[in-house]
Amino acid sequence: MTIHEIRQAYFDMLLEKEHVILSSSSLLPENDPTTLFTGSGMQPMVPYLLGQDHPSGKRIANAQKCFRAVDIEEVGDNRHTTFFEMLGNWSLGDYFKKEQIVWVFDFLVHTIGLNPKQLYVSVFSGDDGIGVPRDEEAVVFWQEQFGGVGVDAKAVDNVEKDGLQGGRICYYDEKENWWSRAGTPEHMPVGEPGGPDSEIFWDFGKEHEIHEQSKWKDQQCHPACDCGRFMEIGNNVFMAYRKTAEGFVGLDKKNVDFGGGLERIAAACNGNPDVFSIDVFGGARNMLTDLSGKVYGANEKETFAFRVILDHVRAAVFLIGDGALPSNKDQGYFTRRLIRRAIRFARDLGISTHFCGEVAMQYITEYKEAYPQLRAQEGVIVDALRQEETKFRKTLDGGMKEFDKLLKGFAIALERTGKHITEISGKQAFRLYDTYGFPLEMTQELAIEHGLVVDTKGFDSAFLQHKNTSRSASEKKFKGGLADTSDMSVKYHTATHLLHIALKRVLGDHVEQKGSNITPDRLRFDFTHNEKLTDEQKKEIERIINAAIEKNYPITFLEMSVEEAKQQGAIGLFGDTYGDTVKVYVVGDPREKAEGDPTAETFSKEICGGPHVERTGALGHLRIKKEESSSAGIRRIKAVLE
Ligand code: ALA
Repeated sequence: MTIHEIRQAYFDMLLEKEHVILSSSSLLPENDPTTLFTGSGMQPMVPYLLGQDHPSGKRIANAQKCFRAVDIEEVGDNRHTTFFEMLGNWSLGDYFKKEQIVWVFDFLVHTIGLNPKQLYVSVFSGDDGIGVPRDEEAVVFWQEQFGGVGVDAKAVDNVEKDGLQGGRICYYDEKENWWSRAGTPEHMPVGEPGGPDSEIFWDFGKEHEIHEQSKWKDQQCHPACDCGRFMEIGNNVFMAYRKTAEGFVGLDKKNVDFGGGLERIAAACNGNPDVFSIDVFGGARNMLTDLSGKVYGANEKETFAFRVILDHVRAAVFLIGDGALPSNKDQGYFTRRLIRRAIRFARDLGISTHFCGEVAMQYITEYKEAYPQLRAQEGVIVDALRQEETKFRKTLDGGMKEFDKLLKGFAIALERTGKHITEISGKQAFRLYDTYGFPLEMTQELAIEHGLVVDTKGFDSAFLQHKNTSRSASEKKFKGGLADTSDMSVKYHTATHLLHIALKRVLGDHVEQKGSNITPDRLRFDFTHNEKLTDEQKKEIERIINAAIEKNYPITFLEMSVEEAKQQGAIGLFGDTYGDTVKVYVVGDPREKAEGDPTAETFSKEICGGPHVERTGALGHLRIKKEESSSAGIRRIKAVLE
């Protein structure tokens, strides 16, 4: 069966059971800031699983476009794809375990004709700690189903240690048989719904077991072992719990959340564990064969390249179709990464002509009935792919040469000095990024292929430095800032920002900058304050500044409106001399929400034209040389960096 036939058969089965079939949500989640992409069918259903009434009722189904960015580098084996369709059905407080197991079994065995002898299932072994029992109920329902087609279905424990033991239903703990968006019960945040699940596996046969190979050597084969013999094709989540601060509580309404990987179900139907052998990849695969003269499956390296291209172009087609055009940030960055990675792997097939647009058209033809939006967006999708390819092809060869040069340099160093270099520096990786358009991850991958690593921290700071200098140099629209941009003056300029915030912290919020003068030898800073500073106050100001220098905070800037800058608590001169948009220099972590990173902290935010040093560590040590009155109510500090 083709995937379109399987999808339709699934819908027909559920329509008969009074489900409303919804169209797929976008790959770019709406109203869900917690994640960049839709990665499972249930994601758009969360509010309803938590109890809100769904406008379409209690029985819902769809085929959801999913994208899992974490799998980009997994692609290349016979089963991983970044994009896939998930068949889903939901009971929102309506039917539960029994109906779900009966229906899904009937669908797999009778509707699409899978041999029940090749189906295996898993169930939850229970956890007293969270008050969720062993799922003996599900075992009984599965046994009835298997029994109905003459298959003995023994339930067994400890398969990870003892192997299958002739069983067909396997008990696993929460690492395997608990589902929530966040994973195991322990990883779930308060408020998140989840529950025990029962997974369905397809057995491709003992010949696909590769336990003799090192990774699985001495380990038992069992449905969830991932050796290649079994493949998970569906998951029934009995979503009946919610995590609270006090522990797990039952939801008022018990739900079913079923998800089945459409491509994998099709692979099971074909009896071929290679998901790239299914019908939807056919046209694109032939196109690649025509372009390269290479045959899919001929050897490992080329097969890997075929799969990367097949997966990545398809994912890019769907991502662009949902609005994620290739770019340098957010979702668009992933689209860019996918396209560039596909182009890099096309070299392994000897394809040096443009192919992305043509391959994309194959997919659009293949999917246009199921996803009419792709047809509507065809021009945009194909153009975006072509443009991205043109852009990257201009620099790819140069970048690969540059990379080879690096390798040669390392080899020469080893020969001449015996020094074994194993790290590509941040500057080198940044050069590959900036001049040759290599996403950092691509350089990392190339590095790994040659037994090297990349200094990613160094890359980040090269990135920040570049951002600061190029913008400061080119944007004259920002007034304020420093006239003399010699190294020392830039350092004093940054020191002035540290001083400004330190004064406010020690003396109070009434402190306002009244003037500043910088030479390569010292800084002078005038500010509102009525009294002479005490020795303790001066010491404390110095201590705060030098501690910030020692922390070696990065310095970056953000552009925003004056209003936003005020709202964010940025200090500095909010006079009319500034335009509508201002630069806010941030010492420390610029992220507004530091995303749970304990090292992320903002030291100061100040409106300013720049430029500044890249990191506070460059300042050395600050000493207040003099503190005096400047005029009525205004004090003056002179300070030096040593
Ligand atoms: N939400 C479940 C999953 O993604 C069905 O596996």
